[in-house]
Amino acid sequence: MLPNIEYSLSYAAPTGIERDALSALALNPDARWHDRMDHAQFVVTAMHEGTRVGLGIVHTSVTAPSEVPRPMELGGMFVHPAYRRLGIRQYMAETRLTYALSMGGTPITVIDNRNAASWSYYERSARWAIEREYTGYFTSMPMTIWVSTESSWYRTGMGLAPLVPAQPNTVLPQQLNHVRPLALGPDQDSSVTA
Ligand SMILES: CC(C)(COP(=O)(O)OP(=O)(O)OC[C@H]1O[C@@H](n2cnc3c(N)ncnc32)[C@H](O)[C@@H]1OP(=O)(O)O)[C@@H](O)C(=O)NCCC(=O)NCCS
Repeated sequence: MLPNIEYSLSYAAPTGIERDALSALALNPDARWHDRMDHAQFVVTAMHEGTRVGLGIVHTSVTAPSEVPRPMELGGMFVHPAYRRLGIRQYMAETRLTYALSMGGTPITVIDNRNAASWSYYERSARWAIEREYTGYFTSMPMTIWVSTESSWYRTGMGLAPLVPAQPNTVLPQQLNHVRPLALGPDQDSSVTA
């Protein structure tokens, strides 16, 4: 039976015991990892029976040579080995992307070309395109910066309008469909601009 995974969101950099718990989950919580955590603007955590089993963040500590305006990096992705191939990354990645797009930044993510699990995901997704490749500062190995195809930067660069269809999980309040237009006050029914 598939585990019942619950997701929680935070809009602040993790500190204290939450930082400790997420650090324990991560593969290699080194100085760079903590730097990204310090600059986290959004954190999605996957939980199973009260235990953290997955993590993804959006941060602004971008060190890769991206040339997009206002880059917001989707990073820190990690799923506990016992919970992989269940779609947890898929869910957290979509959630991060929706957040970054809604904040008006240009979502990017940086992938080590040797990481097959990540490469296959971004390569087959229509929501991502390659911005550029470069050589990793620390690894000296090929890295790739991917950019959201829904970002204004990407769309205008492709000659498209910057507008994109609403995200599937962006739901307008139901009652808006039924609300009648507000009645104008006595001095508001005027064509003269303020
Ligand atoms: C990469 C990682 C986050 C994927 O998490 P996950 O929850 O297992 O991923 P998902 O279940 O959402 O996978 C979605 C799809 O990605 C692809 N994928 C996932 N893992 C894969 C693997 N090991 N090899 C090839 N493709 C893989 C598959 O297409 C998969 O769909 P499928 O299971 O229906 O075939 C996880 O393996 C991990 O934490 N790895 C160590 C840290 C890491 O590499 N982080 C990413 C840094 S950029």
